Order: sequence, then structure tokens, then C-alpha cells
Amino acid sequence: MEKKDIQNELEYLEKVRKINEGKNLKYYILTMGCQLNENDSEKISGMAQSMGYSQTDNISAADLVIYNTCCIRENAEERLFGKLGEVKKLKAAKGTIIAIGGCMMQEKHIVEKIKNSYKYDVIFGTHTLHKFPEDLYNAIINNKKITDILDIDGEIIEGLPIKRDDNIRASVTIMNGCNNFCTYCIVPYVRGRERSREPEDILKEVQDIAKKGYKEITLLGQNVNSYMRVEREKGTCQSEINSFAKLLREVNKIEGIEKIRFTSPHPKDFTDDVIEAIRDCDKVSKLVHLPLQSGSTNILKSMNRVYTKEQYLNLVDKMKKEIPNVKFSTDIIVGFPGETEEDFEDTLDVVKKVEFEQIFMFIYSRRKGTPADKMKNQVPEEIKHERFDRLKELYEAIIPKNNKEYIGTNQEILVEGYSKTNNEYLTGRTDTNKVVIFKGNPDLIGKMINIQVVSEHMWYLKGEIK
Ligand code: SAH
Ligand code: SF4
Ligand code: F3S
Repeated sequence: MEKKDIQNELEYLEKVRKINEGKNLKYYILTMGCQLNENDSEKISGMAQSMGYSQTDNISAADLVIYNTCCIRENAEERLFGKLGEVKKLKAAKGTIIAIGGCMMQEKHIVEKIKNSYKYDVIFGTHTLHKFPEDLYNAIINNKKITDILDIDGEIIEGLPIKRDDNIRASVTIMNGCNNFCTYCIVPYVRGRERSREPEDILKEVQDIAKKGYKEITLLGQNVNSYMRVEREKGTCQSEINSFAKLLREVNKIEGIEKIRFTSPHPKDFTDDVIEAIRDCDKVSKLVHLPLQSGSTNILKSMNRVYTKEQYLNLVDKMKKEIPNVKFSTDIIVGFPGETEEDFEDTLDVVKKVEFEQIFMFIYSRRKGTPADKMKNQVPEEIKHERFDRLKELYEAIIPKNNKEYIGTNQEILVEGYSKTNNEYLTGRTDTNKVVIFKGNPDLIGKMINIQVVSEHMWYLKGEIK
């Protein structure tokens, strides 16, 4: 994949900065989506700062309001329209600039609705994120509304400024897009086809992050374990680091980084080399996120997930054999079209067998333009909710059971800061992403320390410094 020359975009950053000079302007950003969306917001924030805006959490104080949207589920639309309704008053009162970006802006019918019914200055999409400065410049200079959406896949962009939200843990996007077309999912339509960043660029970014003192990184992509697959097949990957397993091994060598996480992998791409790399790399978390979606082979087929219930369970067993102390987290959708009681019980069965550490549960949401939206056998709302509640009940019975296994054990954790719920305590996470709170000196923030777990409290563990 050709890298784009962004010299032109960087010049626009400077042009807007000159216009803004001495005005003490502020921006407010709301991130509505997943970790990739959050990482995009960090780049948008980086650009906003380079253009002379400083961040505020108070929307009324902002001169520039940015919404970074998501469209994975239906309720996102109502939420955005609600926000746009509110910010209209601010615009009328003080001329606030409104910019809307992200996945939802790749949906034509949404952009039409915004154009017809709401106030805005700039609309940009997932493939035009880097053009935000140019679009903003044109909106300011010409006092015109700018809509800048590309339907074709965006190029790989390197070198944008970034303002990270945290100073201990950082995210690094390693690939964009998705080729899987799960039949319920909008992502392939709004993020385009899979394309991987060059390993050298990723490693350089991680090295820079490590130099700045970050201790934990999360490698991000919609399907991280197919990193470089398309490029390998096309023969366009120049580097020897041409797979996810090799990338993990390289990142593991970077000094200063103590913990490596990644999300999301796809069960179908868990080749042996990836399993071995997780096993061998001491810094790579042994909590594997393995999105199940459904436990029923029939539903999995209809979802186009390309694995069966048995294959999923076999993969779990194989990883348990290969990787000492491996644990799993997952995503599950209930109420996919055609899901019968029997299908749903298959999902419960897998949950009972795997005893996931963490489950992200979703009620199936119809997405315009996806194959599942056109399926005739949609599940009634009340059944979806009833199944969701049953899954939640099962999950909440598993949590204390899993938690009890931690009591008395020693856990190495990265201290993240003060506990949000009780500032007498510090907080961190185990390798398996369990929150642990404990009493300790704030000097420990940003360090890896050993903790003995003394009790469990459903959503967190309590520990004592060893
Ligand atoms: N690429 C990742 C994550 C995709 S989005 C993966 O494949 O795992 C995160 C989760 O949202 C998905 O795993 C899925 O569980 C859920 N999701 C996606 N589309 C959905 C829909 N239409 N309705 C409900 N949940 C959905
Ligand atoms: Fe969506 Fe499936 Fe791609 Fe994940 S793998 S982003 S669920 S299409
Ligand atoms: Fe949402 Fe886009 Fe992420 S649709 S879940 S923000 S990739």
C-alpha cells in the first residue's frame, strides 16, 4: 500500500494556526465509538492542538466542537442527532464551529439528514481524517459548509500529530478496514478494505511511545491477526515482518514497554504462529480476546463467521494446552435473525464451558445495507431482551467464580493511578485485565509492581503490596 504524502495537509495545520494565533481558542471532542475511533480522536486532537486550539471538557467554552461518530448499533444515530440539536444553540449564541467525523459519516443517508436538518461546518469521514485541517481552513476562510467524504479506501497516513489521552497506556493502530463482512456488521462498509501499516512505521511509533515513558501498548485493528495478509497475498509487503506473529515478537523486544495487548483478533486467523508468539512473548497479555458472537453453528454460518461451535471450542482447548494460564474474553450478540431458543442455548453452553473472564454483550441491532438487515426472520424485541438478561445472569454467576481463583495469588500489575471510585486506593490491572485496587504510595503510578490479591468484589479485586 502506497503511503500518502501529507505535506499539503501539514501546511494547512500551519495556515489555520496562523488564523487562530493569539485568540486562545478551545476545542471539545466527543468520541462515540470503539478503541480505533478513540485512537482516531487522539489524531484529531493532535491536529486541533497544532492548529492552536487547547482542549476543554466544557462544551459551552469551546470554539470548535468535534463529534467522532460510530454506527455499529442503531442507538448511536439518536444520540448524535440529540447532540447536534443541543449544540445548535451554542452555534447561534457564539458561532461555535461544528465538525463531525468518523464511521457514521460514511453512511450517505446520515450525511443527507445532517445536511437537511442540522447545523454544521465540516463533515469528514474515516478516509479523510487527515484532511480535517484543510476542510476546517476552507470552512473558516470561505464561511462555507464543507463535506469531505471519500467512498474509496483511504491511503495509509503516517506522520499526523497525535495527542494521547493517557501517559502510561497508549494505543497503536496497526491496520485499517475489514474484509470479513460478518452479515450483521457495518464496519467493512464504513472503514473499507483491510490495509496494514508498514511494520517499520509501527515499530518506530512504539519505540517513540516507550521513550516517552509509556509502559503498556494496545495494538489495534478490526482483525489484527490477519495483519499483512492481503499484502502477503499480493506480494506487496517488502518487509520480513509480514505477519501478526512476527510483529508481536518484534514489539516484544522494545525496551521500556512492559505490557502488550491487542484487539480484535478473529478466531479464523488464529494460526499456530500467532498462538506460539503469544506463548513465547513475555510481555504479551495472556488474556486472549476471542470474539464468539454466537455459540450456534447455524447462526455462525448465517453470520458468515466461518467457524463452527466445535472449531471455536477446539481452538480454546488448543490455546489452553499451548499457553500456560491463558484466559479468554469475548463479544456475544444475542437475537441475530433466525436465532432459536436452541441456538441461544448453544451460546450459553459455550459460555459455561469457556468461563470467560470478560464478556461484551450486545443485542442484535439492524444496520442498513448489511445482509442480516434484509433477513426475514428477525427476532422480536422482547425475546432479544429476555435472552440478553439470561446471558447477563450467567455471566454474573461466572465472574465471582473466576475472581475467587485470584485470591491469595501474586499478580504483577501496572499501576495506572488513583481508583476512580475511592481515591484512598490506587488502581491497576492484572495481566488478564482484572481491575485491582490497593493502598500505596502515589509514586508507584506508572510502575509494574507485585500485589497479593486478598478479596474479590465482582467488578474488581482488592490487593496488598507484597
Ligand atoms: N472487528 C471486531 C469488532 C467489531 S465491533 C471483531 O470482529 O470482533 C465490536 C462488536 O460489536 C462485535 O464483535 C460485535 O459483537 C458487535 N456488533 C457488531 N455489529 C453489531 C450489530 N449489528 N448488532 C449488535 N452488535 C454488533
Ligand atoms: Fe465487523 Fe466481522 Fe469485520 Fe469484526 S470481523 S469488524 S464483526 S465484519
Ligand atoms: Fe463504531 Fe467505527 Fe469502531 S462503527 S465500533 S467506531 S470502527
